[in-house]
Amino acid sequence: MCSLSLLLQAAVCFSVLCWHRAPASDNLNLTTAVNIKWSSINFKTILEWQPEPTNYSYTVEVSGKKSDWKKKCIYTMSTECDVTDLLDNPKDTYHARIISTIQVNDDITEEFPFSVSPPFVPYEETIIGKPGIEQYKLYTENDTLQVTIVDPLTPYRFPNNSLQSIRDIFKDDLRYTVYFWKASSTGKKSATTQSNELVIRVDKGESYCFYVQATIMSRKLNRESQESEAHCTTNEGREYDYTVFIAVIIAVFVIIVIIIALSVMLCKRKKANKEEKAKENMPLNDV
Ligand SMILES: *[C@@H]1O[C@H](CO)[C@@H](O)[C@H](O)[C@H]1NC(C)=O
Repeated sequence: MCSLSLLLQAAVCFSVLCWHRAPASDNLNLTTAVNIKWSSINFKTILEWQPEPTNYSYTVEVSGKKSDWKKKCIYTMSTECDVTDLLDNPKDTYHARIISTIQVNDDITEEFPFSVSPPFVPYEETIIGKPGIEQYKLYTENDTLQVTIVDPLTPYRFPNNSLQSIRDIFKDDLRYTVYFWKASSTGKKSATTQSNELVIRVDKGESYCFYVQATIMSRKLNRESQESEAHCTTNEGREYDYTVFIAVIIAVFVIIVIIIALSVMLCKRKKANKEEKAKENMPLNDV
């Protein structure tokens, strides 16, 4: 008896809820978003979804475990939304709602249908972009290759408004690995550093090529960054001197050609001037 009444109550409750929800979502027949994806690199984060809206628009809401729902891209006809500035705590877990909306005079109410995104933790999931190489040099006096790495920047800012790098966010959780190989072979070796400087022992008289990758030690997935550009050292800088030598020769040649051309032009001008003067003077002489 008791359970029956409970069941009845539940049924009534359910029907009331359904009826209550019906006007906006069912009557308007709005499509809800599918395939919601977080697309994030160096903490710049864009939500993407489908399908293109036809007779409606989307509004995005984002909240973390420690923050309230915040709106972005209100009444957008697009299927993506840059939500970077709503994810202000990199370690928080965020969810997004993609609400299918029709622009009305009142505020958006909860009656519009929406889909919920998968969770997103920027600290664990944002892709780390290519590290930069500030400089590198092969020192022949002690046979070392020295590489200085630049941290990629994020959209997060310090109170003084300068941009934070991934180092400012990951701190000791960040490592850089330099993968290097002799230009004459393919056997790859690697060396890892906690800082942004690496000094590698190399064989005498060899040229080396290398690229750099960052690793986030605490991550289980997406641990490695994108690979930096590859660079190669030249053999004891001889190629460099050679190019400078050629450049100087070409420059000298060009200057000589210009001087000759100028002097020829000036000579011709002078001649022409003289002839003209001579012509001008002739009639006077005649009178
Ligand atoms: C801003 O503040 C950060 C941390 O306090 C500091 O590392 C950085 O050098 C400052 N930038 C400027 C331009 O003052």
